Amino acid sequence: MDSFKGKVAVVTGGGSGIGRALTLALAREGARVVVADVDEGAMAAVAGEARGHGVDALTVRTDVSDLGQVQALAERAWQAFGVVHVLCNNAGVAAWGGLERATHRDWQWVLGVNLWGVIHGIETFVPRMIAGGEGGHIVNTASMAGLIASQGLGVYNTSKYAVVGLSETLAKDLKPYRIGVSVLCPMGVETRIRESERNRPAALRNEREPAAPAVELIGRYLAPDAVADMVLAAVRRNELYVITHDEGLEPLRRRFERMQQSILQRKKG
Ligand SMILES: NC(=O)c1ccc[n+]([C@@H]2O[C@H](COP(=O)([O-])OP(=O)(O)OC[C@H]3O[C@@H](n4cnc5c(N)ncnc54)[C@H](O)[C@@H]3O)[C@@H](O)[C@H]2O)c1
Repeated sequence: MDSFKGKVAVVTGGGSGIGRALTLALAREGARVVVADVDEGAMAAVAGEARGHGVDALTVRTDVSDLGQVQALAERAWQAFGVVHVLCNNAGVAAWGGLERATHRDWQWVLGVNLWGVIHGIETFVPRMIAGGEGGHIVNTASMAGLIASQGLGVYNTSKYAVVGLSETLAKDLKPYRIGVSVLCPMGVETRIRESERNRPAALRNEREPAAPAVELIGRYLAPDAVADMVLAAVRRNELYVITHDEGLEPLRRRFERMQQSILQRKKG
């Protein structure tokens, strides 16, 4: 995708953090934007800022863990603009704490938003994008936690590893349709992710144990705007991986080396 001018982009979790920055970067580049979030006040504010760039902006309250709501989002987007070129499956939440203590509700909530939210976006938007025949791009927000496992982040790790795997396959599957795929894998970004509990539905709140406090991530915390710029550059170049932090190189290398060692040791006998 050479230019975003006049294109239509849908961003889930567009009310805050990385999603807000993605929405505004796309609007700045001339894209018409659809902001989807559970936080109506936040998404209305972001849509207002997007309009300041002279583009149309629509808000659709959407809980991405609910297939019906994602279907309704697609319906609204096509009704308003007749086409969608860019889908950013970005909405996400984090729960902290060891897997030995994770509750069923932790699994349901985090996988519901982070994994099922992405699946719902794919199953709902991709057939329509293919039918539209204009090509496009899908950006799935995973995390470095989708490539490297950290103690105390197991539920989140599980959801994000799945999003990386899904994205890697999706890139191959959608190539014939001129729909590119990028998977965003940041380390720390200055957002409200550490306050994710604000978005946990009452029905999925833990009855007894409070969630463990958020762990401090290693490496720098980048500004969401810097991350959004990297995403747009990757979409233009049709790059699969958007790995935002140089600090990621060493842990990635160590993980690969451990896998390589497994094969080499076995061959040595
Ligand atoms: N901030 C980081 O350090 C970091 C690092 C790696 C990956 N990520 C990922 O980036 C993405 C964006 O998170 P962020 O850091 O900007 O956090 P954030 O909390 O600032 O923004 C997340 C947005 O998603 C919305 N949201 C939450 N649940 C939702 C649901 N069920 N349906 C629709 N919207 C929902 C929230 O209202 C909020 O506007 C997430 O997928 C997160 O896992 C963040």
